[in-house]
Amino acid sequence: MLFNHDVVIVGAGGAGLMAALYAKEGGADVAVVSKLHPLRSHTGAAQGGIGAALANEEEDHWMWHAFDTIKGSDYIGDQDAILIMCQDAPRTIIELEHYGVPFSRNKQGLISQRRFGGHTRNYGESAVRRACHAADRTGHAILHTLYDQCTRKGVRFYDEFQVLDLLQTPDGTVNGVVAYEILSGDLHTFHAKHVCFATGGYGRAFQTTSNAHAGTGDGLALTLRAGIPLEDMEFVQFHPTGLYRLGILITEGARGEGGILRNNSGERFMERYAPTVKDLAPRDLISQAIYKEIREGRGINGEPYVYLDMTHVGADILEKKLPEITTFSRTYLGVDPVTQPIPIAPTCHYAMGGIPTDYNGQVEKGQRGDFVQGFYAAGECACVSIHGANRLGTNSLTDLVVFGRRVGMHMAERLRTEGRTKEPLIADPEKRTREMLDGILARQDGENVATVRADLQDSMMKGVSVFRTDETLTEALSDLKTLRARARATTVRDKGKRFNTDLLDAVELQHMVEYAEAIAAGALRRTESRGAHSRDDYPSRDDAAWLKHTLYWSNGEGEYRFADKPVTMKTDEFPQFKPKERKY
Ligand code: FUM
Repeated sequence: MLFNHDVVIVGAGGAGLMAALYAKEGGADVAVVSKLHPLRSHTGAAQGGIGAALANEEEDHWMWHAFDTIKGSDYIGDQDAILIMCQDAPRTIIELEHYGVPFSRNKQGLISQRRFGGHTRNYGESAVRRACHAADRTGHAILHTLYDQCTRKGVRFYDEFQVLDLLQTPDGTVNGVVAYEILSGDLHTFHAKHVCFATGGYGRAFQTTSNAHAGTGDGLALTLRAGIPLEDMEFVQFHPTGLYRLGILITEGARGEGGILRNNSGERFMERYAPTVKDLAPRDLISQAIYKEIREGRGINGEPYVYLDMTHVGADILEKKLPEITTFSRTYLGVDPVTQPIPIAPTCHYAMGGIPTDYNGQVEKGQRGDFVQGFYAAGECACVSIHGANRLGTNSLTDLVVFGRRVGMHMAERLRTEGRTKEPLIADPEKRTREMLDGILARQDGENVATVRADLQDSMMKGVSVFRTDETLTEALSDLKTLRARARATTVRDKGKRFNTDLLDAVELQHMVEYAEAIAAGALRRTESRGAHSRDDYPSRDDAAWLKHTLYWSNGEGEYRFADKPVTMKTDEFPQFKPKERKY
């Protein structure tokens, strides 16, 4: 079937719904196409808070938030975009409050704020309460409210439609997508003036992850296939506190409420690594510190985990402010945080890199200002770049609401000023997708998808996780060559049309190989340590050589190329943003 809309947004998490809401309010006819029901989007798993300098609890300024974000990014976030985000965040939160997000309240009845890693007062002096939260279900509250508002305003939803191709005119303008309807197995074409990818992250390429099963980076692979680069893919965030062995997120808000990390001898080891903010250091530093403790034999009973100790925090705070993680710990590990420390280890959590955009979400072909017409990206799949080499906790929700909103408004404005006429579709737009799916269904005698996926996750975990070297990365890249061939030969047992998730798993595995190569190759090329990219063989940050973004293109056959892109600095106006050694 052919569907026509002004705007087609792919993905129904916070960024997609913000873009949809503001485009709709700006007068656009908007469709949201999502492989999940919107309320199952991964934004719903965001726990601890959304960062904005509201100053509801103590003095705070958006400029301090900008400074913390720049320092947190290890100076590779674009400073113009960071200034926009931190300045825009407070009013965007108030808009969310007015839309009905049920934020927790402080004693004055204002939105409650708590401490989070790397967020400080007065340029690093001490931790500040900046994370606005709805208990520890902040993403859930935002997602539900945005979905209510979108349905109320008439956004059209296509639920459980998996987008498998990005449509372009011969000159590269994006004018639609092809989607597979999971219920029927039918293909559909969506013709649009503007397409926005808000397809989320890719944590499922790693064995231990906090990401939902849907986090398979589909939008990134489709973008690469369209000849558009990805930016800064080497920067992968490991959240310090995942439940041991399971990777399920235990919010940083737990440390914001007083939780302490302890090693085997009960030592509060973060005092050694970050004497000022201790357990509220940024995630890159804490994940690296945890692995150092483990490597040096100070994991609990010699095992690869440490403790998050909340036993001094009190049942009242745990039940009222952290009910979700208290339940998770009891349910999944049988550990009651009121009386017992929680076993934790770092878990793959967030993609700092992604589809290169400007601060209105317009996708760039390479260098700044050279846009792919008709194509936008927002949220985790996009690289604006706010987070640089390391994202601060709470800034993912801030990023997706601020930039989702801007993208929605920008698309609506362009429709008003440029008109609604769409670029014509190519002949038989579904052909490429049909042939790809038929090819997978026809394969016989290959391995099953789960085996190949597990090997991919294992290689990424061993070679490309918190600590990396030339040797581990070269080995991962060599594994990926083989894995590409194996992924292309997998056999699906279900040959039917309805709810063929077996078939979609095979497609997603091919996507995973594509961007996994971008991560490993980018990490091998960047011969320095910066933020979450930590090379044992190049332990220092090297601003002379590497204060720049990476752009990566691939031909989909294992051949790739790179280019550099300058970081936007604002240090003439704001000398406090000049790169320095990061100390906390
Ligand atoms: O720790 C957390 O609650 C996660 C928040 C985030 O990733 O921003």
